[in-house]
Amino acid sequence: MIEDTALPAELEMLMDVIRRRRSIHQDQLSPEPIPMEYIQWMLEAANYAPTHGLTEPWRFTVFSGEARRALGEAFAQSYRLAFTGEAFQESAWIAQKERVWKAPVWISIGVRIGTHPKIPEWEEIAAVACAVQNAHLVAASLGLGAFWTSGLPVRHENTARFVGLEPPDKLLGFLYVGRPAIPWPKARRKPWEEKVVWRE
Ligand SMILES: Cc1cc2nc3c(=O)[nH]c(=O)nc-3n(C[C@H](O)[C@H](O)[C@H](O)COP(=O)(O)O)c2cc1C
Repeated sequence: MIEDTALPAELEMLMDVIRRRRSIHQDQLSPEPIPMEYIQWMLEAANYAPTHGLTEPWRFTVFSGEARRALGEAFAQSYRLAFTGEAFQESAWIAQKERVWKAPVWISIGVRIGTHPKIPEWEEIAAVACAVQNAHLVAASLGLGAFWTSGLPVRHENTARFVGLEPPDKLLGFLYVGRPAIPWPKARRKPWEEKVVWRE
């Protein structure tokens, strides 16, 4: 059990960033550009994620500026492929095309599958999720909001191909990043003690 004594300064800082990290929705971000150096810090942090067999399965493509136009087109095309007939809604199709302008940077989250014969797919996906969390924590430490979006159009195989992923590799969605246009949101979590059983 943790003794109730003063915490090391490093742990205080780490816990502060972990508690502060927030998913901030595209509608609550400023579309203004952010320094690409910030994105480099995020991606370097991602690269230190744990990885079984050192497969380092995370693959990212970073979209900013005008490159977002083609990305929006790809989302819209994927929406059209995924939602046909009655399910297709013109307004949702347009929203897929336009959403890219709401955040200055969009990072595709790809996973390389099958590079190691003994490592199952779920472990590669778990490693990528750890990488995304590292990047998200760095974003929070820089005062940036980020959001992992994983709806069908943003992880569709058409979008995967657009970002340069070929099967069996997969697209797990996008992490978009920007400065928040709202006061920093509060975390919503039930106490961690409710999810832990101690057997001593
Ligand atoms: C793998 C993954 C996929 C997610 N996909 C979506 C999504 O498609 N739409 C959404 O609203 N939130 C998505 N989220 C973000 C959650 O909504 C968010 O983490 C949750 O609301 C808690 O907020 P917090 O991250 O600020 O603590 C995703 C989170 C993860 C880890």
